Amino acid sequence: MLVSAKEMLVKAKAGHYAVGQFNINNLEWTKAILQTAQELNSPVILGVSEGAGKYMCGFKTVTDMVKAMIDELKITVPVALHLDHGTYEGCYRCIEAGFSSIMFDGSHYPIAENVEKTKELVRVCAEKGLSLEAEVGAIGGEEDGVIGMGECADPDECKQIADLGVTMLAAGIGNIHGKYPENWPGLSFETLAAISEKVGKMPLVLHGGTGIPSDMIRKAISLGVSKINVNTECQLAFAAAVRKYVEEGKDLQGKGFDPRKLLAPGVEAIKATVREKMELFGSVDKA
Ligand code: 13P
Repeated sequence: MLVSAKEMLVKAKAGHYAVGQFNINNLEWTKAILQTAQELNSPVILGVSEGAGKYMCGFKTVTDMVKAMIDELKITVPVALHLDHGTYEGCYRCIEAGFSSIMFDGSHYPIAENVEKTKELVRVCAEKGLSLEAEVGAIGGEEDGVIGMGECADPDECKQIADLGVTMLAAGIGNIHGKYPENWPGLSFETLAAISEKVGKMPLVLHGGTGIPSDMIRKAISLGVSKINVNTECQLAFAAAVRKYVEEGKDLQGKGFDPRKLLAPGVEAIKATVREKMELFGSVDKA
């Protein structure tokens, strides 16, 4: 069932667990994540960045693929198809293509402009029954080989955006996308606690889920995080498994070059990663 992320996140916040957002890149990725969610009876959010959407031939292709897969694989757990870090224009394109959830990342705008654009999208998403994620405080990450440290969001600005009526709020608490550098000081729980207090019941989103130690994940959930995004970790697991297959020369044995065989270890590795995260986040049997 393709649904908005609202209900699953309200339930997660009340039940003190988090729903995983796993980013998709192709058919194998999507199938692996959907099957694991179904096996574990867990709600799930499929994240699609604008780059990945383009790679998959556009958002319409993505929506049609996901809807058909849910149908043909008989997926009954709640699935949200969510735009990850959308631009203002990208949000409208995904709404038109049939996504059930949208993220507008206005964190790089001055707060007044972030508020203005988010407000407009709150109205449009409410009309269509879609969930909307907003962001305050940029999430760091690697760009051109330089790793930017994540910002810590201003709790008052978080409240300002939360009060607009968004479904969930991504707030920077020192988290970054991709691998964490050796000298990463960890998540700022002080910031998270201050934001949580200001925004009350609003589900909070933790980006950059790759490489955050389990105890920090559990603590973040206890302080109000109800959605955790994981992308790089699935990519690393997929790449390592396919690399092993090739390095062992298995593609040269019999029909080992068949893409369905060649990619199979990668798919299994994605499934194992998603399973591990769902268990850690506490979303198993919460569908
Ligand atoms: P990672 O790639 O670090 O897991 O981050 C994913 C993410 O936050 C997507 O928005």
